[in-house]
Amino acid sequence: PSETGRVLSIQSHTVQGYVGNKSAVFPLQLLGYDVDPVNSVQFSNHTGYPTFKGQVLNGQQLWELIEGLEANDLLYYTHLLTGYIGSVSFLDTVLEVVKKLRSVNPNLVYVCDPVMGDEGKLYVPQDLVSVYRQKVVPVASMLTPNQFEAELLSGCRIESEADGWEACNALHDVGPSKVVITSINIDGNLLLIGSHQKAKGQPPEQFKISIPRIPAYFTGTGDLMTALLLGWSNKYPDNLDKAAELAVSSLQALLQRTVKDYIAAGFDPQTSSLEIRLIQSQDDIRNPQPIFKATRF
Ligand code: ATP
Ligand code: PLP
Ligand code: MG
Ligand code: NA
Ligand code: MG
Repeated sequence: PSETGRVLSIQSHTVQGYVGNKSAVFPLQLLGYDVDPVNSVQFSNHTGYPTFKGQVLNGQQLWELIEGLEANDLLYYTHLLTGYIGSVSFLDTVLEVVKKLRSVNPNLVYVCDPVMGDEGKLYVPQDLVSVYRQKVVPVASMLTPNQFEAELLSGCRIESEADGWEACNALHDVGPSKVVITSINIDGNLLLIGSHQKAKGQPPEQFKISIPRIPAYFTGTGDLMTALLLGWSNKYPDNLDKAAELAVSSLQALLQRTVKDYIAAGFDPQTSSLEIRLIQSQDDIRNPQPIFKATRF
């Protein structure tokens, strides 16, 4: 194994633009990881465009790839990373993958972005919710829900930062030692809520980071955020707050560059969904200036 780690990343691929693996693989590589992407779909572009075309991988096809790796003794991973998953059968196979990878490396870290919806709207089939809650959350090492997803998984209504920390506590009770609610909406601004339970039954270390909302709509940011959190939390395993500061600082520098470049090209960033300027932001990913600071609870 390499010094930092080897990540199996099961996420979407788009030919053009940056969501899923396209927004996770490059930053993890920049942070020094070997990344092995499995493309759960291959679409022409992300689903926010007027149309898209492409193919969807099914659970059986995912399992074939795992069998191919296993036949050559290539199943040693330090991390599994998953994002958007569109069906129960694919999610069930992902659970089999977790089991298989842990049989090879019992210390495998499973970083799960439980992508189900946003702002009160579900964008996966309803029957995925209970599979995430009952089977996936219990085996995840780190979970990165947004506000809506944290509510669905914890059963807690989140209207304040205190509610956010309560939801994290409820999620720790079920499984993951690290939980980052990547954004909750408070008075028009964004708040990241983080929580690290260092030992079962112990009170977690909890923190928040305030993030001013940029008046634009981006795609791929959730996937990038989870990849950065994986990358930095592995380098600072006992300082989730520091890892989150670095991840947020990289992401915000990238978003500011994205808006600036769209304006310079004559676009109004408030009226179109912006493709993130990932490649152009590589210095901000490798060496983030830690401008965004965490406050301990
Ligand atoms: P999921 O991937 O599960 O949907 P999410 O809803 O938190 O998670 P995003 O809404 O893409 O994903 O947000 C991820 C991160 O991107 C946030 O933590 C925030 O730092 C940043 N972000 C996204 N949009 C903006 C914005 N308009 N202004 C400032 N930061 C933003
Ligand atoms: N995967 C695909 C195929 C998408 O179309 C999208 C968004 O449109 C995403 C993932 C998610 O992007 P985000 O990281 O903004 O949640
Ligand atoms: Mg969101
Ligand atoms: Na998230
Ligand atoms: Mg998302």
